[in-house]
Amino acid sequence: MKGLILAGGYGTRLRPLTYTSAKQLVPVANKPVLFYGLEALAEAGIRDIGIVVGHTAQEIMEAVGDGSRWGVRVTYIPQDAPRGLAHAVLIAEEFMAGEPFVMYLGDNLVKDGIVPFVREFAQGGCNAQILLAHVPNPSQFGVAELGENGHVVRLEEKPANPKSDLALVGVYLFDHHVFEAVKAIKPSARGELEITDAIQYLVDAGYVVRPHIITGWWKDTGKVEDMLEANRIVLDGKERLVAGAVDGESRVEGKAVIEAGATVVRSVVRGPCIIGADAVVEDSFIGPYTAVGPRCRIVSCEVENSIVLEGSTLVQLPQRLEGCLIGKGVTVVRGNGRPQALRLVVGDHSRVEIP
Ligand code: TTP
Repeated sequence: MKGLILAGGYGTRLRPLTYTSAKQLVPVANKPVLFYGLEALAEAGIRDIGIVVGHTAQEIMEAVGDGSRWGVRVTYIPQDAPRGLAHAVLIAEEFMAGEPFVMYLGDNLVKDGIVPFVREFAQGGCNAQILLAHVPNPSQFGVAELGENGHVVRLEEKPANPKSDLALVGVYLFDHHVFEAVKAIKPSARGELEITDAIQYLVDAGYVVRPHIITGWWKDTGKVEDMLEANRIVLDGKERLVAGAVDGESRVEGKAVIEAGATVVRSVVRGPCIIGADAVVEDSFIGPYTAVGPRCRIVSCEVENSIVLEGSTLVQLPQRLEGCLIGKGVTVVRGNGRPQALRLVVGDHSRVEIP
């Protein structure tokens, strides 16, 4: 069985970060979200992985390399534009060479991995298997309706009147019949080849599409709030590890990870949180559910429930930062000059909220 990870797309909902960076490389607990997917596939015994890449191909290739870090072999499959998830399947036909495969959306996190899901498919008896989860708000997802035999009979994208509360999680298993489906379907109203249409084609053509319902936590990290939630969950699962330097005037509480090379001076660090390598935290409070990237500098600030990417500087902020997603190399400082005012230099589609 092979793997297909989708790491193209524009990531418009994560602007402005995605103007300069691939959304699949935004870190959750200081690790790119894409790496969790690679780990999940490797853990499921998949060794040959195709990664679909778009305009951020260069950055993805630099981050992932040949895959040897995960014990897998990675082949990059360029997509000329984000023409839909089913289009990504279409262009992967040659790479799959007739083998069944697991397709994994590169911005998704499935906390307990996909080993049982892949194992069940390997036992045979179906042409496709979709991962589903019960959700309280099905209208916001692709929703599956199951028939009396337990197989999938209908899929609807964001239905106004959902027929079930079973949402599609971004992991799918297909045999080679999916290529017949992605060639037969037409682009949707939004101009994309939809994977839901391809799966519906399989159902209508009499192929067996089986559901696999997960109960563990999963997240599509397409939006800021989802990134922060994923960050909270992953941090919660970490053990305390203090490898950096913490001075005698600091206090480290709970499940905090302070990586080697990080320095904490006269500060309170309260886990679950992570402080990356070579970061400096001085006279500050790093609160629960915060990920401070490598080489950040945080002086006289309070930060909680936030993600700060590598190389950013926060100095003397008068209020606690909460629910923030701060990009790479950003500077947020208190200015002492006159007139006393907010001086903002923020990129397109940024969002700044002040109390
Ligand atoms: P989406 O989150 O559906 O799409 P997007 O990345 O364009 O995001 P936004 O809606 O914010 O603009 O995509 C899910 C995953 O699949 C994500 O990792 C990007 C990837 N993808 C492709 O590789 N090719 C595609 O044609 C599409 C639509 C998505």
